[in-house]
Amino acid sequence: MRNKIVAGNWKMNMGFDEGVNLAKAVSERYTKAKNTELIIIPPYLHLSEVSRIAKAKGVKVGAQNCYHKENGAHTGEISAAQLASLKIDYCLVGHSERREHFKETNAELFGKVKMLLKEGIRPIFCCGEPLEDRKSELYFKTVGEQLKVLWELTPEEFDSVVIAYEPVWAIGTGETATAQQAQEMHEFIRALINEHYRKKRSESCSILYGGSCKPENAEELFSQKDVDGGLIGGASLNSDNFIAIYNSLK
Ligand code: PGA
Repeated sequence: MRNKIVAGNWKMNMGFDEGVNLAKAVSERYTKAKNTELIIIPPYLHLSEVSRIAKAKGVKVGAQNCYHKENGAHTGEISAAQLASLKIDYCLVGHSERREHFKETNAELFGKVKMLLKEGIRPIFCCGEPLEDRKSELYFKTVGEQLKVLWELTPEEFDSVVIAYEPVWAIGTGETATAQQAQEMHEFIRALINEHYRKKRSESCSILYGGSCKPENAEELFSQKDVDGGLIGGASLNSDNFIAIYNSLK
């Protein structure tokens, strides 16, 4: 049975003290349900302290990005090995904001995934189409292209990957994909995994939905057959909302 996951991506929000308080509020109210995980994904600045607080309560911790090279003269970047030295569990790869604003290429994304896997950190690989591709009905094609990065992995490597489908038009806009739109894409992604790695792996891979997910719509989205939880932006900055979203997995 695959894990159900709710992950909160704080993006570039929260001063240090504010972030520590949020991590405490979330961790204290977390009660784990079987086969589920709650993940906090703060900025790098908070990782060490948030990790200490969250892990004591069984909450997992992720980073928002890492560099695709091993180490050395890459000023301002953070490597997968450095994340591993803090025992970070997960790392986002290819969030649409990074694809768009930092022009991350498939070769770089592949490098990041490989570095993370080598260090025992599970990548949360993000995909999702922009509004033009939704309107012109190119969304399956776009997502299929983005996922090609993953088909280069060995089946054993693929076992550690979580996928997050985040339609760009739904991120931070208040406009959520309908449960049917999410289900249709998740089913498509699972079918692609089946094609590349066979049924066992397609059935065990967690596929999360992201894009204006909130307490009001989480339950309907998560009740879809192929939606295994959510990657939450805005609503993860409030502990009540974030815990309510996690509780809708149960
Ligand atoms: P949102 O962001 O929940 O604020 O739409 C989701 C994300 O970017 O991961």
